[in-house]
Amino acid sequence: MESPFKADILSGKVALLTGGGSGIGFEMSTQFGKHGASVAIMGRRKQIIDSAVSTLQSLGISAVGFEGDVRKQEDAKRVVESTIKHFGRLDILVNAAAGNFLVSAEDLSPNGFRTVMDIDSVGTFTMCHEALKYLKKGGPGRDSSSGGTILNISATLHYTASWYQIHVSAAKAAVDSITRNLALEWGTDYDIRVNGIAPGPISDTTGMSKLAPDEINSKAKDYMPLYKLGEKWDIAMAGLYLASDAGKYINGTTLVVDGGLWLSRPRH
Ligand code: HXC
Repeated sequence: MESPFKADILSGKVALLTGGGSGIGFEMSTQFGKHGASVAIMGRRKQIIDSAVSTLQSLGISAVGFEGDVRKQEDAKRVVESTIKHFGRLDILVNAAAGNFLVSAEDLSPNGFRTVMDIDSVGTFTMCHEALKYLKKGGPGRDSSSGGTILNISATLHYTASWYQIHVSAAKAAVDSITRNLALEWGTDYDIRVNGIAPGPISDTTGMSKLAPDEINSKAKDYMPLYKLGEKWDIAMAGLYLASDAGKYINGTTLVVDGGLWLSRPRH
């Protein structure tokens, strides 16, 4: 689908996306690149990173990939610094790396719980922490008039309760808290806007293939206000809005992009 945004809205900006080589992260990398940004992607799997970078480059996007695990502070630091070395600045950090699997609370080991908290919540904080000095106004590579921006990919499952997702639910609740607290502290002190996006069920993603029961398609009309799954494109468009000047007065918000699903109930 054609983007409704002008192709230069992120011109001159540098974006670093964790989990940027696949799924929603990759679509965001692609759309950010198509709208003028230079793109650095971080991920654990070299093959996926390499293939994502060549796809981005084949679209004429200035792209680079770095292997790394957001659970390791040294990886986070190295990848942020490599991005600066490569592109000279950092304007947009997208935390899209996430881990997930379905398991009952009874069968989930504390280490399984911790693993998802480590990837989603601690990983998000670690990346923000390492990126701070480059995102703040007056930081290396940027002038003293404006700071950069952070987007944290969240979810809606913790707004209520979700079967077999206690670990992800807790982790995404923490992500939303990180978004609000950093928006307050870093918005005030450094002119950095920090926002989130909470996708609903998005077709053609690992999340959907791992988590979605088939009924989401067959019974969707009973409870989905827009009667359909979202597309990765929908999340990328929300990302463009929040990361560009269109969203310049938005700070500390997590934008729900789910067609109204989380608040709806079956018709009968
Ligand atoms: C129960 C499990 C499990 C499973 C792992 N564990 N998979 N427990 N059921 N299916 C437990 C292990 O037993 C172990 O605990 C602990 O978790 C760590 O497991 P590892 O395999 O060592 O972890 P690791 O290799 O680091 O893999 C991380 C992962 C994996 C999260 C488990 O699934 C992963 O890397 N996923 C990344 C890709 C991904 O899932 N993306 C989708 C995101 S979708 P013990 O106690 O045995 O040591 C998404 C959508 C969210 O985020 C919103 C949805 C609505």
